[in-house]
Amino acid sequence: MPVFLGIDIGTSGTKTLAMRDDGVILASATVEYPLSSPRPGWSEQEPSHWWKAVVESVRKVMKSAKLKPAEVGGIGLSGQMHGSVFLDKTHSVIRPALLWNDQRTVAECQEIEARAGGRAALIGMVANPALTGFTAPKILWLRNREKRNFDRTVQVLLPKDYVRFCLTGDFATEVSDASGTLLLDVVNRKWSSQLLERLDLDSGLLPRVYESEDITGVLTESAAKLMGLRAGIPIVGGGGDQAASAIGNGIVGRGVVSATMGTSGVVFAHSDEVQVDPEGRLHTFCHAVRGKWHVMGCVLSAGGSLQWFRNQLCQEEVSQAKKQKVDPYELITAEAAGAPVGSEGLFFLPYLSGERTPHADPHARGCWIGLSLRHGKGHLARSVMEGATFAMRDTLEIIRQMNIPIREIRLSGGGARSPFWRQMQADIYGQSVVTINASEGPAYGVALLAAAGTGAFKSIEEACKATISVVTRTPGKAAAIRSYNAAWPVYQQLYRSLKSDFAAIQSLLR
Ligand code: XUL
Repeated sequence: MPVFLGIDIGTSGTKTLAMRDDGVILASATVEYPLSSPRPGWSEQEPSHWWKAVVESVRKVMKSAKLKPAEVGGIGLSGQMHGSVFLDKTHSVIRPALLWNDQRTVAECQEIEARAGGRAALIGMVANPALTGFTAPKILWLRNREKRNFDRTVQVLLPKDYVRFCLTGDFATEVSDASGTLLLDVVNRKWSSQLLERLDLDSGLLPRVYESEDITGVLTESAAKLMGLRAGIPIVGGGGDQAASAIGNGIVGRGVVSATMGTSGVVFAHSDEVQVDPEGRLHTFCHAVRGKWHVMGCVLSAGGSLQWFRNQLCQEEVSQAKKQKVDPYELITAEAAGAPVGSEGLFFLPYLSGERTPHADPHARGCWIGLSLRHGKGHLARSVMEGATFAMRDTLEIIRQMNIPIREIRLSGGGARSPFWRQMQADIYGQSVVTINASEGPAYGVALLAAAGTGAFKSIEEACKATISVVTRTPGKAAAIRSYNAAWPVYQQLYRSLKSDFAAIQSLLR
């Protein structure tokens, strides 16, 4: 019975898991690494930290699952999307990678739009507008601001594809992650020669593109030795973390949508055809399912807002939780549950790192609006959770407007673990939400892709069908749905009212 390894190179750490071919997880291990922000709005990591974490987490998993190298039948890779690793002609890393949440490329996004012949023309070529987190603006930033580094660059890789290079020696990517570079012709699933030409970028800088299930190479002797594996293990394309997580949630058919509340919050819908929001508010990317696509919206600080609240304002809860040996979020959620639906008129805008969906505004800021003497800590906590959930609803509503059916919403991430937050999501989304048996996210999704790609299943759809099932269902409550339906337009208006103030605040910092 072969075992498959799923490796997810995340922002806070790398998680590796070993999965049996019936979907059962034998072991998993996470190795963390730091993120650096050398200037406000900048976000960088050292690719060598990813590689070390991959080696260490694979070793840990092999040891704790007591696996022999011969038992591993395939490896799937997932990772934080949009990051850029720049390699020189000796294939060494030139500078730290710029990450998905880096906001330094406002001018380059404008440049891309102008060179493409306008926003609509750009969306026509790559199905998406230019956003600061995407890869293409980062490449232009290097050319504009670090010309010497740009001149030395012979290859640009996404985070998981840098790890693939360390594993196999190959320069390769797959369609789901490549979509987030802004350089993929998403309709035809190949690099956009049209846009590359307009941007005056050499296509040789980019790796070869595969479908996510395809085998892109095999493990080299030296990597195998380092990790305690055998040489020759096939590595499949895998997926960007969102597509991979969707596979791990079984989002491989029409009508099933996932809402993942992690640091970022992502709403993800499968689509059989390419569907583009003409306003470019959602991302239209290739799915990790062969020949399929997805739309998705990304809220930059969803669970991240509650994390910020815990870190900055809940020292007491954190130390109480330590004494009681519980998770601090349990205490914070209990306080939030003491406040009524709608937090008695208190709203929280969760734009702590600017926002991507639906506003695409790097200058947007987090704020509480509507504070009064009645409000206490419970209201603050509840409003943060409500604000993050309203932000997710923004994406769901655009998906509804695009006539993509939403029959079932599958929750995952931290927001799925708490029954209180599950209920709030059902009430704010206005329909039942479910959770499933698998909660390992992207690493699980790419282990399934490795199983399907090496023949353990006929297709990824079949792999999901065999391994994933619904375990809880939370219907919305009519009264709460009514209250939230009344509050949501107010929440939406607050950003519109404050948009120019956010820009004015930003201009103070220049
Ligand atoms: C997706 C996105 C993030 C990163 C980090 O578009 O930017 O989800 O992939 O997880």
